Amino acid sequence: MKSQDIRKQFLQFFESKGHLIVPSAPIVLKDDPTLMFNNSGMAQFKEYFLGNATPKSNRIADTQKCLRVSGKHNDLEDVGFDTYHHTMFEMLGNWSFGDYFKKEAITWAWEFLTEVLKLDKDRLYVSVFEGNPDENVPFDQEAWDIWKQFVAEDRIILGNKKDNFWEMGDQGPCGPCSEIHIDLRTDAERAAVAGRSLVNEDHPQVVEIWNNVFMEFNRKADGSLEKLPAQHVDTGMGFERLCMAMQNVTSNYDTDVFTPLIAKVEAITGLKYTDNTVKNISEEQNKINIAIRVIVDHVRAVAFAIADGQLPSNNGAGYVIRRILRRAIRYGFTFLGTKEPFIYQLVDVLAAQMGEFFPEIVAQKDLVKNVIKEEEASFLRTLDQGLHLLDTVIVGTEGKFVDGAKAFELYDTFGFPIDLTALILREKGYELDEAGFEAAMKAQKDRSRAASEVSKDDWNVLIEGNVETFEGYDKVENEVKITRIRKVESKKDGTLYQIVLNHTPFYAEGGGQVGDKGVLISANETIEIIDTKKENNLIIHFTKQLPENLEANFVAKVNTNLRSASSKNHSATHLLHQALRAVLGTHVEQKGSLVAPNYLRFDFSHFSKVTDEELKKIETFVNARIAEQLPLIERRAIPFNQAVEEGAMALFGEKYGDLVRAIKFGDSMELCGGIHVANTAEIWSFKIISEGAVAAGIRRIEAITGDAVRDFYVAQENTIKDIKETLKNPQDVLKAVHSLQDDNAKLKKQVEQLLKEKAKNLKGDLLAEVQEINGVQFLAKQIDLDANGAKDLVYEIGGTGNNFFIVLGTVTEGKPMLTAYVSKEIVESKNLNAGQVVRELGKHIQGGGGGQAFFATAGGKNPDGMADAITNAIQFIK
Ligand code: ALA
Repeated sequence: MKSQDIRKQFLQFFESKGHLIVPSAPIVLKDDPTLMFNNSGMAQFKEYFLGNATPKSNRIADTQKCLRVSGKHNDLEDVGFDTYHHTMFEMLGNWSFGDYFKKEAITWAWEFLTEVLKLDKDRLYVSVFEGNPDENVPFDQEAWDIWKQFVAEDRIILGNKKDNFWEMGDQGPCGPCSEIHIDLRTDAERAAVAGRSLVNEDHPQVVEIWNNVFMEFNRKADGSLEKLPAQHVDTGMGFERLCMAMQNVTSNYDTDVFTPLIAKVEAITGLKYTDNTVKNISEEQNKINIAIRVIVDHVRAVAFAIADGQLPSNNGAGYVIRRILRRAIRYGFTFLGTKEPFIYQLVDVLAAQMGEFFPEIVAQKDLVKNVIKEEEASFLRTLDQGLHLLDTVIVGTEGKFVDGAKAFELYDTFGFPIDLTALILREKGYELDEAGFEAAMKAQKDRSRAASEVSKDDWNVLIEGNVETFEGYDKVENEVKITRIRKVESKKDGTLYQIVLNHTPFYAEGGGQVGDKGVLISANETIEIIDTKKENNLIIHFTKQLPENLEANFVAKVNTNLRSASSKNHSATHLLHQALRAVLGTHVEQKGSLVAPNYLRFDFSHFSKVTDEELKKIETFVNARIAEQLPLIERRAIPFNQAVEEGAMALFGEKYGDLVRAIKFGDSMELCGGIHVANTAEIWSFKIISEGAVAAGIRRIEAITGDAVRDFYVAQENTIKDIKETLKNPQDVLKAVHSLQDDNAKLKKQVEQLLKEKAKNLKGDLLAEVQEINGVQFLAKQIDLDANGAKDLVYEIGGTGNNFFIVLGTVTEGKPMLTAYVSKEIVESKNLNAGQVVRELGKHIQGGGGGQAFFATAGGKNPDGMADAITNAIQFIK
């Protein structure tokens, strides 16, 4: 059965059991501080388990793109080495939200596997939670009894908390689980060793394929468990593993999920992958296999993340994606010999293969390819640069051990992989000081952990059962009650309190727009709200100080100055989006945005720099819409499909409900939950302040509106005024500046000429000072020239004869510089190396540098050390 059909069968089966089929949520989570990526099918339904929202059906099924590369669930380092872990995988799942429980979940799982897919019952084992007295959770008798109707007792395995108690994170909904494992070994192997003994033992052919979690507890901050108000089912079936079982192969990579990608890598590299039926392969072939598995796995994670809007970058989720891609590039570089970008070529194959079910990968194909290709090219350059840097590290090394801290620097600053460093060092006859590397790595991890550590108390619920509503589209203040509070400690922000209200006018950060600030006022107190964010569908108000009387009646009041400035920028963002598509073309798609009170930032796909002329047109387009005084037309709850049919722009990687809000100004129409002006006239004016690149094929525009534009022009005016005053108020300021520039150029030429003459004289003087020591014509001196002059001079002097060793020191504008020259006759005979000379002497001026054996320079920070540097030059020939 083809993988496509397996997926369809699963969804059809659960549809027939009354489940609503929903699409996969984007792999990248936005506006969720608790998780970077969807790491399981249930992540998008968290708010239902927590009771913060009501699902549209209490039975749901889907296939979810998952990424397990950070946080509690992280398989990254295993990927490639085994045949059944992945960075991105699909999790097929069925859910009950307070509806059916263990009986149906188990019965249907068994029915689907053995009757629909007709997997061999003899190969299946199941596990049941054995209980945990410490936590007061009993053995799962109910699951055991249900399973006994389907399988013999010796196929039921008791599992401990690690294997059979599933938790979403350190806190939150959790419960015992019951897994289904499959034994895919040959009959002979199965006869020799019982499958039962291999369950949960990391055997590559005895693997878990399905997990049924019975959510009945909530893990609190203090580690204790409390019963949830309702019982839920959360299941997850590993799609790629199921395909392995259904296609009679023993590795996920031998299924049709991966074979087309592998074939493409083979075609590009000319190397062969051996499938899992080929035994006793050479060490070299094994390395090739691992590298190919890494690459075909990682390209999926990276491509889908980019398609869902997460570009590789230097921090957060973007950094995780960049690291995954770099891991793939490096395996190609080291084990497949790929020195040019090639991974991007796999995206075509991926799109052809997965596009039917995941249209985003087809729609975003060009962008994904471009971004991956550019990342590949730049990391390959880094690898190349790293090789050179490694050379300089080696030159500075005494003995055989290369400083681990230096290797860490290479790793940390350039992303140069440590095992590659170790490999290259070994080839050159050096050893890496691994303990030193580990220590440097640990120190850095400790630093960043300390910086990001956050601890959260449990919610203290003051009013039960309230589902908070947002009313900020219509109101900026209202009477409210506090329903729950929580204390949060972090290194970064210190102690903060989070407050949830029964309903709120405060807008929570989302869709690029920053959260509202404002106050909560009661009869006796005023509490400052410093930010508002969303978490699991709760709108959370942040404050540094809790009210004394939590039960009082409050008026929640949004800071309308800030909000109105943000709303101008938000509406201008929509007009900018429209302008970009009108001026640059409809290939432009939004790739990120920030809407703050003081400015807006908009990232979008476009393949070249936006020219000044285009920027002018864009600015003019937006200002024309402002001048037209277009009223806001807000549609609050229209069906998603209808909105899109009417021309509303929806964004890739964004999760939309069935009913959406559409924002229209003239011909601009977008799906948007943000706060907007009532009429474009309120924006007053729009001004682009910068344009640049963020990544391959992604540009960024920053712009301002309203008062910020006025302030901008006032500041410009003041600058011009200052310039005029400085120039003593000329009639034509531009002419005055040009004339200054002309004068400056003339003077520069004269100075150059004078310096040349001075150097000529100096040459004569210096030649007279050359001493002969041990057969070397030696000169070391600090001179009053710039570094270029010193360079010319050493060549001039060196050209007058043989056996010269010259060191000149210069200090220009406080910057010391050493220049060393060694005649070629003595580079070898005297083992003199100018590079080494400046590196050694450079220490006196706190500097470094290098060059070749006959000429090298070193710049430094400490001009006071120059005299010592010059005095010590003689050591090299003594
Ligand atoms: N949430 C469960 C898992 O990820 C089904 O294994």
